[in-house]
Amino acid sequence: MPEIVRAKAYTSIANLGWGFDTFGLAVDVGFDTVSAERASWGLSLAVVGRYAEGIPDTLDQNTAGKAVIAMMVGEGLETGIRLEIDKGTRPGSGLGSSAASAVAAVVAVDALLELNTPRERLVRYASEGEQAAAAVAHTDNVGASLYGGFISCGSDGVVTPLAWSDRIRFAIAHPAIQVRTSDARAALPDQVDLKTYAEGCSRCARIIASADVGDARAFGAAVHGSFVDIARSRFIPGFDTVVAAARNAGAFGVIVSGGGPSVAAVVDDGMDASPVADAMQAAFASAGVACNTYMAASVKGAHVYETS
Ligand code: HSE
Repeated sequence: MPEIVRAKAYTSIANLGWGFDTFGLAVDVGFDTVSAERASWGLSLAVVGRYAEGIPDTLDQNTAGKAVIAMMVGEGLETGIRLEIDKGTRPGSGLGSSAASAVAAVVAVDALLELNTPRERLVRYASEGEQAAAAVAHTDNVGASLYGGFISCGSDGVVTPLAWSDRIRFAIAHPAIQVRTSDARAALPDQVDLKTYAEGCSRCARIIASADVGDARAFGAAVHGSFVDIARSRFIPGFDTVVAAARNAGAFGVIVSGGGPSVAAVVDDGMDASPVADAMQAAFASAGVACNTYMAASVKGAHVYETS
């Protein structure tokens, strides 16, 4: 059995517009690594790395710690483990940073103890970890981060891998503001009318079909303008201007990434997406908000990269 295992898990875009709490896509904006090391007794946690500041290192307040506690209870584990999170994803971006830590942690512990836990159970433990960051457990970010690529998930936590064409890409603008996931969720209506429900079903079908064939134009049209994004746009200064600027620069559609504040514009692999990113950055600047921009493509799932 190994003494120490290191695993990495990537950022993700949850929802993809109309697929609220349903779709997730792993993207290569960044990753967290978690090392799991054998210890004589108990579970301990340290947080290091570029984005460690402000990340709780108390087990039951940290998404990775909470996920591993859920795993130890669920799998009946009593081994001593020392966890170290190297926080390489920026928290509070809407790009699944908390999910990346939780997923990397359960993957590392699984490999350390040579458990071969089914992914269905790992996803459940990682989702329980997500509850440290959001009021409710949702599986879209953790499902994407664990499985890689494009997934759907249900309220029962079942994750279904879906086909994704790498022709579809994103230009992402991450404004320098914080949006708490709990606030972003509280902004949503408790109920939607039948017409909105039917539109959502239709959009989700179009999202799946266009993702499969890599039609970025159809995908962009399908994800754009969901009632969820509209409700959440109040938290993002200049959102309408940013969307218009991205579209004028050639984006096929624009969404809020997860609960925000990052905004993701749909482009395809054949175009120069930097004008889209620059246009979003300028639009945020005109709203008085600085932002970072990234180009994003789909990426593989969480995996172990070092064992000793
Ligand atoms: N589906 C979740 C939400 C993702 O939109 O609230 C949060 O990252």
